[in-house]
Amino acid sequence: MPYGVSVTGELHLSRVSGSNVGDAPRVWHNQRMPRRPQLVPWKAAGLVSEQQSSGDEVVRRTGWVFNNEKGSELTLEEFVATGDAEVGAYLTVFGLRSPDAEEQSLVEIGCGIGRMTCAFTREFGAVTACDLDAGFLERCFETVGLFGKVDRLSTRHVADGKTLNLPPNSTDVAFSYITFQHCDRNDALELSAEAVRITKPGGRVVLNFRTRTRGDSVLVPMSKVVRGLFRVPKFGNWLSRQRLVARVGWQANRLTPDEIIGPLSAQFSAVELWRNPKSSIDGREAVIHTFEGINRAHYWIIATVR
Ligand SMILES: C[S@@+](CC[C@H](N)C(=O)[O-])C[C@H]1O[C@@H](n2cnc3c(N)ncnc32)[C@H](O)[C@@H]1O
Repeated sequence: MPYGVSVTGELHLSRVSGSNVGDAPRVWHNQRMPRRPQLVPWKAAGLVSEQQSSGDEVVRRTGWVFNNEKGSELTLEEFVATGDAEVGAYLTVFGLRSPDAEEQSLVEIGCGIGRMTCAFTREFGAVTACDLDAGFLERCFETVGLFGKVDRLSTRHVADGKTLNLPPNSTDVAFSYITFQHCDRNDALELSAEAVRITKPGGRVVLNFRTRTRGDSVLVPMSKVVRGLFRVPKFGNWLSRQRLVARVGWQANRLTPDEIIGPLSAQFSAVELWRNPKSSIDGREAVIHTFEGINRAHYWIIATVR
């Protein structure tokens, strides 16, 4: 299949028009649209990304869903540079840069259009980029073709939002950034377990979550109402493309570290929790580390798999 998108069981991709970078707008998309409202903003953004004629246009129209930046002058190159900076910082601080990284594999869960994937392909010998949206995966492949090492990339469609179509014990690192907070809580827990399942003994899961903050007593109930509106035919799709509304609606869960570590702890030989120095969050049996570069509302679970 072009661009290496693999699909599981059912047919999930449909190709309606041309495929070359710079071609006229095209539509690659899931044939079955989601019934679950937390998936609507991503599918809507995915559809917008498919309809643009260039990566720069995608970033101008819908890049804000990935890094919150807006502007009519944005370029794909600048967008990827934000991912390069974050990947460089996190790999260094989390101790994931090893001399044999080029021999190692990394799976990225929630890759979007490849903002961070480019940098991963420059560091790791094999990278598998996974996302809910098939259109994003196509764009991810193109982005890495321009700014990364595309011969090291393969992609997987997370068609049901919770299962990774990858074998057990098959990757050295399973990584996810600003993705699990947007999932239904059960999907986030299942994807965390999936990350552990696919990681080799001695490998690491590096998973980012969002903690509860003061504003959440208003934001979380509001986001539930907005997600209800996402269900309204046509209007819901339009609404989910409005930046402020989408940002409210996609705040789908606030898992605690214990909820994530608890069910998986028997499969970990070591667990670290990384957070901003100003945050006080901690987790069961986790060694706490701090890094200024972590958003105060975020935390990372970095665990070595047995
Ligand atoms: C905020 S974006 C972050 C993308 C990328 N990590 C980055 O930093 O640029 C969240 C991504 O997660 C994907 N996503 C959301 N829910 C998902 C799920 N249940 N399974 C897989 N991907 C999901 C979305 O399609 C989107 O590409």
